[in-house]
Order: sequence, then structure tokens, then C-alpha cells
Amino acid sequence: MHKLAIEGGSPIQGEVAVSGAKNAALPLLAAALLSDEPLTLSNVPRLVDVDTMLGLLAQMGVAIERDGDSVTLDASTIDNPLAPYERVKTMRAAILVLGPLVARAGEAKVSLPGGCAIGARPVDQHIKGLTAMGAEVSVQHGYILATAPKGRDGGRRLSGARLFTDMVTVTGTENLMMAAALAQGETVIENAAREPEVADLAECLNRMGARISGAGSDEIRIQGVARLHGARHRIMPDRIETGTYLCAAAATGGKIRLSGALAASLEAVLDKLAESGCKIAVDGESISLEAPTKLRSVSLRTSPYPAFPTDMQAQFMAVNAVAEGTAVIRETVFENRFMHAVELSRLGADIKIDGNTAVVKGVARLEGATVMATDLRASASLVIAGLAAAGETVIERIYHLDRGYEQLEQKLLALGARVRRLK
Ligand code: EPZ
Repeated sequence: MHKLAIEGGSPIQGEVAVSGAKNAALPLLAAALLSDEPLTLSNVPRLVDVDTMLGLLAQMGVAIERDGDSVTLDASTIDNPLAPYERVKTMRAAILVLGPLVARAGEAKVSLPGGCAIGARPVDQHIKGLTAMGAEVSVQHGYILATAPKGRDGGRRLSGARLFTDMVTVTGTENLMMAAALAQGETVIENAAREPEVADLAECLNRMGARISGAGSDEIRIQGVARLHGARHRIMPDRIETGTYLCAAAATGGKIRLSGALAASLEAVLDKLAESGCKIAVDGESISLEAPTKLRSVSLRTSPYPAFPTDMQAQFMAVNAVAEGTAVIRETVFENRFMHAVELSRLGADIKIDGNTAVVKGVARLEGATVMATDLRASASLVIAGLAAAGETVIERIYHLDRGYEQLEQKLLALGARVRRLK
């Protein structure tokens, strides 16, 4: 069980490069299943979740070659359209193979992803959409069994449909968009997720010969095609990693420059950081931030893109913990995403939770302590607080961090942080 020891109290300063986006990479890897020709992705981040997805695809029969930050996937033969529980339980995003498998192989057996620390996280919308496209879907012994209907020619193929998701769902939108790419006829996804990662996936699918329009808006139209060909695609920068490092600089009174960033994909976060008193400059693909001597508390409410992202809520709570004033944080996307609050309180933060609302009263200083990570973004919040706290903070269970932050220690060390990994 690895731990991270942080000697806090000094400002984060310097420059680091942003990695490829985890939440774009995962659906893009699954998209390789849609074609019998190779898909080459570049700017692929080295993350545990990416390795998990690659392992899952390999056991389905996908040939995988890695070369630096590029990965080439050849799904010409899929001899095992199965996503077993052992793999899905470690990464819920494995559900993203469901749509592509049913569309390409005509069938899929995918373990129901369990819940996780932040909520029950059902996948009923994924199932509802596939069913509307003609798939026979049942849930047996913890597995989703799905088959596409048999056509007159004996082939199995989904049919286009008008889909409406009950709530905005990012991977739900991605799963259904991938399934629709090979369906017979037109599919319209209403109430679609507008996240930039959805648009990145659509751009890659169109490079593979799909006919998708409207991705990035709440209505996506897909004209199904018979097959998709190979392509090359560069993964977009990680907007949540970008926001995380900006919050670290803000909370420690530092100054940072991030290269290879896409400022347009996290405007709500930049807006809140500016409101807290940070000076922000965007120059093409780089974002610079200079923290004020005293941060102002900033209230926020998470909501689907383009509003403030739920994946940045924990990190911004750490910023508010050391700001001047009182902030009200409302989490509207997940039902249990405040686990970091009780850990932040161990560092001296003054946070009161009432349902999906957290009232954060800024304190002059946090004091280092031993804390425990519970999920990916909660861990990032504890790193930020540890960097701001006086003395040593030890974060336990940091395998959560390794799932979503590439070369975390190296990047923090390059920014002047005093961190070391304890085996
Ligand atoms: C994606 O998860 C991200 N993961 C999450 O990032 C992110 O927090 C989330 O979107 C919201 O932005 C990936 O992209 C791999 P949802 P996803 O479906 O798609 C409910 C991280 O830290 N819902 O948009 O699973 C659901 O319970 C991770 O990188 C249903 O009820 O999230 C939630 O309350 C954490 N039924 C809300 O919708 C469904 O069928 C939004 O979930 C689907 C979702």
C-alpha cells in the first residue's frame, strides 16, 4: 500500500506539461472495437486506468502495440466479447466496451460495474438506449447480456432510434454514440452530454468514417454506416489534471504555467479561480496562474458541462479551505462526493456538510496530518491541502491517484513541492 509524504507550506511554482485526458482516452480505446482496421491514438496518458482498459481489450482479442505515448489497437478479430467482473470492478469505465461490442460483434457480456465511493452509479441509461436501438438486453448474475437483432441476411445489426437520456450521462452518451455509428439508419441522442471528451470521441469516430454531427451540443445526430476504417487521432489535453494543478498553485500562494493545455475546455474553473483573486493568463496552449497573497472564498455548484465540473469540486474545496471567508459548495451530480471533507478536517479545515451542500469556512493555516484517500479526485484534494498545510502530511491509499494523474510526483517535484512516495 503506497503512501505519499508531503512537506507542505511552500508555494507551488514552475512549469509542467499537461497529459492526455483520461476521460477521453478511455472511450477512444473502446472505439477501436468498432473497426477491423488499426486505430492509432497518440498523447495517451500512462495511467492505471488506461492499462486496465488495454488489458480488457487484449483479453477480447485486440492486438495492442505501444510506442511511447502512442498506442495502436487492431480489433480485426474479437474472439471474446466479454468484460469480466474482476476487471470491471476495478474500473467502472469498462462499461464503455458495451456499445462498441454490440455494434461490431453483435453481442456482449459485460459485468455490471459496481458502485463506487462517490455513488451508486447505475448504467440504466446505457441499457435503455441500446434496447431502444433493438438490442435484446438482460441482466443475469451481475452481467449485462446484450445481443443485436438478427437481420434478414443473418447478420446482427442495431437500428437507429431517437434516444432521450433521463439525465445527462457522459459515458452513457459515449456508449450510445459508438453503438449508433454502425447501426442501420439515423440515431438522435437528445439531452446528450456536452463534455469536450464526447466531442473528442466524435472527432475520432468521424475520422474512422462515422457520420456524426452535433457532438458537444445536447443533440447528437449519427447516420449509421456499414463499417468503420482505421484512423489516427491525438487525445485532447486533460482539463481536470489542468484544473488540479491550477488549484494547487492557488492554494499555496504560488505561480504556475501549464503547457499543452486547452483553456476553452475548463472556462468555468478558470472563472472561479479568477473570482478567488488569482491572476490568469491564457496564451494559445498555455495557461499561467499567479495566486493572490490572500484568496477569497468562492461558492460553486457542480453541474454538467459547460458548468463547473463535479471532477473539480474536491480540489476547489481544498482551495476554499485556506481562503478568506465562507464558501457554499453544492454537489448536484453525484450523491456522495464529499468524502474528502472529513479528511480535510483532519488537516484543520472548517467544513460543515449538510446533504449535498458543504459550507467551507476558510482558516488561516492547515496543519499536516495523516489522511486517507477514498477516490481519485478526493485524493487530489488531499494533495492540494497537504501542499498548503504546515508540516508533514501523509496520504494513504494513493493507488487512487495513480489511476488518473500521470507522473504525479515528478510533476509536483518539478513545481518545487517536497513530496516522496513511501512504499
Ligand atoms: C464520467 O462518469 C466521468 N468518467 C467521471 O469522472 C465524471 O465524474 C462523470 O462523467 C460526470 O462528469 C469518465 O468519463 C470515464 P455520468 P460517468 O454517467 O459517465 C447518473 C473521474 O474522476 N447516471 O455522467 O459514469 C450517475 O449516477 C470520474 O475521472 C444514472 O443514473 O458519469 C450520476 O449521478 C469520476 N444512470 C449522473 O448520472 C446512468 O445510466 C452523471 O453520471 C448513467 C448515469
